[in-house]
Amino acid sequence: MTAKYAVILAAGQGTRMKSKLYKVLHPVCGKTMVDHVLTQIEKNDMDEIVTIVGHGAEEVKEVLGDRTKYALQAEQLGTGHAVLQAEDLLADKDGMTIIACGDTPLFTAQTFAELFEYHRSKDAVATILTAQADNPFGYGRIIRNDIGIVEKIVEQKDATPTEAEIQEINTGVYCFDNRELFKALHKVKNDNSQGEYYLPDVIEIFKKEGKVIAAYRMHDFAESLGVNDRIALAKASETMRARINKQHMQNGVTIVDPASTYIDVDIEIGNDTVIEPGVQLKGQTVIGKECKIGAHSEIINSRLADHVTVTASTIEDSVMEEGSDIGPYSHLRPLAHIGKNAHIGNFVEIKKADIGENTKVGHLTYVGDATLGHDINVGCGTVFVNYDGVNKHHTNVGDYSFIGSGSNLIGPLEIGDHAYIAAGSTINQDVESRDMAIARGRQVNKKGYFDRYPVAQAAAENENKQK
Ligand code: UD1
Ligand code: CA
Repeated sequence: MTAKYAVILAAGQGTRMKSKLYKVLHPVCGKTMVDHVLTQIEKNDMDEIVTIVGHGAEEVKEVLGDRTKYALQAEQLGTGHAVLQAEDLLADKDGMTIIACGDTPLFTAQTFAELFEYHRSKDAVATILTAQADNPFGYGRIIRNDIGIVEKIVEQKDATPTEAEIQEINTGVYCFDNRELFKALHKVKNDNSQGEYYLPDVIEIFKKEGKVIAAYRMHDFAESLGVNDRIALAKASETMRARINKQHMQNGVTIVDPASTYIDVDIEIGNDTVIEPGVQLKGQTVIGKECKIGAHSEIINSRLADHVTVTASTIEDSVMEEGSDIGPYSHLRPLAHIGKNAHIGNFVEIKKADIGENTKVGHLTYVGDATLGHDINVGCGTVFVNYDGVNKHHTNVGDYSFIGSGSNLIGPLEIGDHAYIAAGSTINQDVESRDMAIARGRQVNKKGYFDRYPVAQAAAENENKQK
């Protein structure tokens, strides 16, 4: 087997993005562009991968970790100069080397595999991956001679008007004979409109030396999209999104309106789950079978078991066990754990809390820093008062308890099993199992208030006048 290497170019600033964030670190469907490229290359059983870093080197390294080696390009003198920085790591090796840019996030492992294969079959020194573009503006053009043999690549800025009309473009991906590549790179000059050392110039160098150049034209231009600005970034996300959604639909997930459904790359969804329009599933989210994710829900880094229903709610870093439901308009903040068949209704916020099996938190309630057992009923408008301005305090509520509406439970607090909190209570002392706590002012009724108080009469008169 011929050894396989790859060099990923990721040292540029990405001026056209007009961003603080380095270009290759912009995310497409939840994963940075350079990570997409690396992920697809990795699937090809590689012997060595080198990423060229420069602008944002530390940040890029942090994202990619030890999945690749790195070479530093201290000054960005062009793509040819960039590849040359991998010389110490690669130049003395036999094998084939794929070069890819960190700003082309849509290439698939399959395309890289085909390129390796084509390159090998042609016995070429260099194989360019090309594509046919409707609008080739901005890309390098493939210049072929009368009989269709590739002569060179001309950059947009250096192209004559006739060359600029050519629609076959350089995707920025190539496969080279590794040793020949590094030899040729030393011969690249920077006498062009940008004063840069262009990697594509090695093609003409090889050509002049009489070496075999091949070009592998891919059928799908969309896959080769290079992201240089925010417009292309949106385009890349759209294409990636369609690809992700299609995969889920093929796996048996119903996506009501794929065009308005936003699912990040690494998300798992069980079959017969229905995803309604406007849903966003982000990060490391896992969703089980036969769930219903209602319109405009946002789920981030969370795990939902089977048969979970989410209605227009936001769920972050949380877990919902089988058969539980939430919403509309509720919010699980980090570390909420919703037990089996538990019910979280509308306008409920839950943070760092365990809600036991079959427990119901139906309406307008805040639960923070608490452990609730099973089969509890939390009445409307209950507040777990967890913060005293300095520290957070925990509250435990035992199984089968009943928390009356409008209660304030001031932590730290222990409420036993089968306890009963009367509605409107402000509880700051523990309640033992099977006890009832009532903590509110006693009701006082003022007999004949209306007749005795002129203020009440005046108000009534005023009201009549307005009618
Ligand atoms: C490049 C190609 C062009 C091709 C297009 C495909 C060159 C000269 N041109 O143009 O033929 O059609 O990609 O998308 O190669 N980079 C470095 N160091 C540098 C310069 C760039 O690491 O000194 C990296 C960038 O971070 C980027 C990649 O190389 O990831 C491509 O650079 P970019 O400036 O985007 O090249 P294009 O103008 O798109
Ligand atoms: Ca580019």
